[in-house]
Amino acid sequence: MKNKIDKIKDLALKEISKARNLADLEKLRVKYLGRKSELTNVLRGVKNLSKNERKEVGEMANKLREEMDENIKHQVVNIKRRESGDVKEKEKIDVTYPGRKISKGHLHPLTQVRYEIEEIFKSMGFLTVDGREVEDEFHNFDALNMPKNHPARDMQDTFWLKNGCVPRTQTSSVQIRFMKENKPPLRIVSIGRVYRNENSDATHDFNFNQIECLMVDESGKITVAHFKSVVSEFMKGLFGKETKTRLRPSYFPFVEPGFEFDASCPYCKGRGCRICKGTGWIELGGAGMVNQKIFTSVGFSEDKYEGFAFGFGVERMAMIKYGIDDTRLFYGGDLRFLEQF
Ligand code: DAH
Repeated sequence: MKNKIDKIKDLALKEISKARNLADLEKLRVKYLGRKSELTNVLRGVKNLSKNERKEVGEMANKLREEMDENIKHQVVNIKRRESGDVKEKEKIDVTYPGRKISKGHLHPLTQVRYEIEEIFKSMGFLTVDGREVEDEFHNFDALNMPKNHPARDMQDTFWLKNGCVPRTQTSSVQIRFMKENKPPLRIVSIGRVYRNENSDATHDFNFNQIECLMVDESGKITVAHFKSVVSEFMKGLFGKETKTRLRPSYFPFVEPGFEFDASCPYCKGRGCRICKGTGWIELGGAGMVNQKIFTSVGFSEDKYEGFAFGFGVERMAMIKYGIDDTRLFYGGDLRFLEQF
C-alpha cells in the first residue's frame, strides 16, 4: 500500500508541475483527487487494513491528498502568472514602431484646375465672386441683351423650371448681379456650374462648369489691349510661359465687338497634332468689350463705362491641361481615373 502511495505521489507531482494550462491541470485534479482516483481507492481500502497499518497508510494518503491539493493550487498561480505575462508580451507597445499610414483622398481634378485658375486671376487683382445656379429669365437672358425670341437664345438650349426660372445656362449672369450691387472700377471672376439641354458625348454634357471674367472702368480706361493682355497672362499661367493667344471676330449679344480666343496648342507648341486637329490652335472661349446695353440694364448711364468680359469652360481647360479626351470621365466617379491626379 505504502509503495502504491509513493508511486502515485511521484507521478502525480511530476505531472502537476508539468501542466501548462488550467484545462490540463483540471484533468489532473480529477485524475488524482477525483472520486474515481487511485488515491480515493486506497483510502476506501484503509478500513480493511490492520489497526497499525490503517493509521499509517491513512495518514500517508491524507498527507498526499493535501500535498497534491497544495501543488495544484500553486501550479494554478504559476500558469496564470505565465499567461498574463504572455499577454503583456503580445500586447507590448513598441513606441518606436513606425505608424500606419492613413490613406488620404485628394481634390477632384476639376477642383484642382478651378483653384489654379482662381489663383492666376487673384494674382492679377481679380475678385472671386459667387453666383446663383438657378436664375430668373431676366438675369440669365434679358439683361444680357438676349430678349425673348432673340435668335442667340437658340445657342443655349435650356431646361426650364415650372416657376419660369432656369438652371443658369451661363455664368455671364454673374456680371448683372454684381454690377447691380457694385460700381466700377471692378475686376471679378466667377466659376460655377451651368446647365444646358444637350446630349452627352465626349465633348458635351448637360452640366458643366464655366468661368466668367469681367473688368470695367470709366470710359477710355479699358481697351481690347487690356483684354488681350489679361487673357494671354492667364493662358501662360495655366498652360506654360510659351503659350500664345489669338483673337478671332465673333458674335455674342452682350459684347461689341465680340471675339473668340484660342491658345496655341500646348502639346505640339503650334506645329499641329491630334489634340489641336492639326491646326496648332485650340479654341477656348468667347469674349468682347461689354455692350453698352448691359450697362444700361443694370442702371449705369450709357457711355460712362467701358470694359471687357470673357467666358470659357473649366472641363475643357482641364481636358487640355491633362490630355483627357472625354469630359464624361470627370463625373463618372471611376477611381482609376480620379487617382491619376
Ligand atoms: N456666356 C458665353 C457662353 O456661354 C461665353 C461668353 C462669351 C462669355 C463672350 C463672355 C463673353 O463674357 O464676352 O457661351
